[in-house]
Amino acid sequence: MEKMENVYVMDHPLIKHKISMIRNKHTGTNEFRKLIEEIAVLMGYEALRDLPIEDVEIETPIETCMSPMISGKKLAIVPVLRAGLGMVNGVTTLVPSAKIGHIGLYRDPETHEPHEYYCKLPDPIDQRLIVVVDPMLATGGSAVAAVDYIKKHGGKNIKCMFVIAAPEGVKRLHEAHPDVQIYIGQLDRELNDHAYICPGLGDAGDRIFGTK
Ligand code: PRP
Ligand code: URA
Repeated sequence: MEKMENVYVMDHPLIKHKISMIRNKHTGTNEFRKLIEEIAVLMGYEALRDLPIEDVEIETPIETCMSPMISGKKLAIVPVLRAGLGMVNGVTTLVPSAKIGHIGLYRDPETHEPHEYYCKLPDPIDQRLIVVVDPMLATGGSAVAAVDYIKKHGGKNIKCMFVIAAPEGVKRLHEAHPDVQIYIGQLDRELNDHAYICPGLGDAGDRIFGTK
């Protein structure tokens, strides 16, 4: 895939290692859930590198000094249901004060197009940095619909984090929303005829929640 502005593929060995573990079909629900959360911590750490900071006055036991702290934008984490829920605790580990929205979408098994069933965002959302989380970016239909919804409700500053992505999905999301920063744990080869990512990890929701 050609290099695109606002698309960042992770290169940290710990992220790569943990993604290989969740790809393994013998990795059970309990371990899968823990790993997805750990990957979300590591990816969140990378994706939040550009958080603005400002110097504030701090009294140490020795003296008063100016020292940097996160400033400005408050965070909203928005998981795409169901599978995105598995990444929420990873990001709140880094930013415990974040508010959490939810976007409920499922893919039609025939058309692979997303259908919305529940959406609720922190209100107001316009001044927040919004981090959309979903383990999988396949056709990109769900991600585009999620960002459409967030923008319709006033969201402006949006990052999306996916553990595994197909080139087709990255292209679709980037073309629909070039201003959105896209963070990807691993870029996979392609989609199969059922719009599953190859090699991928199967159905992320089923693997997190043990529903199959
Ligand atoms: C999965 C995944 C994404 C979507 C990606 O959810 O978590 O939201 O598919 O596919 P797309 O890029 O082609 O839209 P799914 O619709 O299977 O719902 P679930 O999480 O409830 O299982
Ligand atoms: N959703 C998943 O959970 N897995 C895929 O490979 C594609 C979409």
